[in-house]
Amino acid sequence: MFDSLKALPADAILRLIAEYADDTRDEKIDLGVGVYRSEAGDTPILNSVKEAERRLLESQTTKAYVGSGGDGEFNDAMQRLTFGDDVPHERITTLQTPGGSGSLRVAAGLVLRAKPDTTVWVSDPTWANHEPLLGGAGLDLQSYPYYDREQCAIRFDEMKKAIQRIPAGDIVLLHGCCHNPTGMDLERAQWQEVAELIADRKLLPFVDLAYQGFAHGIEDDAWAVRLLAGKVPEMIVSSSCSKNFGLYRDRVGSLSVVSSNAETAAIVRSQTHNIVRTMYSMPPDHGAAVVRIILCDHALRRVWEDEVRGMRKRLQSMRELLTAALAKAAPGHDFSHIERANGMFCFVGLSPDQVESLKRDHGVYMVGSSRINVAGITPGNVAYLARSIASVL
Ligand code: LMR
Repeated sequence: MFDSLKALPADAILRLIAEYADDTRDEKIDLGVGVYRSEAGDTPILNSVKEAERRLLESQTTKAYVGSGGDGEFNDAMQRLTFGDDVPHERITTLQTPGGSGSLRVAAGLVLRAKPDTTVWVSDPTWANHEPLLGGAGLDLQSYPYYDREQCAIRFDEMKKAIQRIPAGDIVLLHGCCHNPTGMDLERAQWQEVAELIADRKLLPFVDLAYQGFAHGIEDDAWAVRLLAGKVPEMIVSSSCSKNFGLYRDRVGSLSVVSSNAETAAIVRSQTHNIVRTMYSMPPDHGAAVVRIILCDHALRRVWEDEVRGMRKRLQSMRELLTAALAKAAPGHDFSHIERANGMFCFVGLSPDQVESLKRDHGVYMVGSSRINVAGITPGNVAYLARSIASVL
């Protein structure tokens, strides 16, 4: 049976992890997969997570099944983290999922059950796995203009015009903050316009919120979600705890579906639980229990908020450092857009050949689109990085 299968190329982002690990050069730099790194170049476990794990180990008395929706207290805490306190919680169904990707996949299953001919409109460009993940689930995907690679800026007018033409009932996928891969987010006034357009056109917003806390702050980064939630009867939000809790391998996320009324929310709950049961039965518990302990304990939550602030500030300062280093190494080239981006990512603005040459000749690893993860930059490697980039221009 399996003889009929053909090998597939490895995922472009995940392949970089192995390529970088196999590179024996001392001066190599990993700007590939979206994982936070400290100035020492490692990805430490957060202190808040360590403490929550200690408490969990001491207090956990059973490993019995929890259920398809996961940990109820985690779900309530994630719902408040995402929507704040001012929304009608009886209209929202939140369930624990295996990471943000699991959330996206369960959401796709729900949409396919509710309205299988729905098209999901994604930004051009978008996270490289949106298309395989949502399209692979069976949804039709189309794109709307988002980023101008020449101008290194958002194509806001074209984006609005495209949204105006989307048929009522379709879904618009938006990045709540820290747009992946460009790092370029809408301004608040632009979000207002987009939210009104979406409401007028009777479109359903689907927000991917994978980096809450990495742009301006934990509350600020939920602003667009909360704005949309106040304007539309229905929406979907996929949250990830991979980055802001550093729980990458524990696979923790949540799916929140806003319905027009409490009765529909109860139906959505039964449907999503059924989708989970028929897909992976139940989500893993450990990471969600850790997040629940942190979010539900006032003091521990403060520790976590400080740690998220620290990660955010480091990312921003590495952007500034790289922009300054490039201004020195490549005068005459404008890289100021790097400083204007949010979160982990931005495009440097290089061709695939230049990206390849950086990897081959300098041991500098980034995604083929020239997306870099700025967490891979340190004060110690930034000059080498800037010189390497300058040499391929
Ligand atoms: C990324 O974009 O690098 C991260 O979201 C990790 C992944 O799974 O692609």
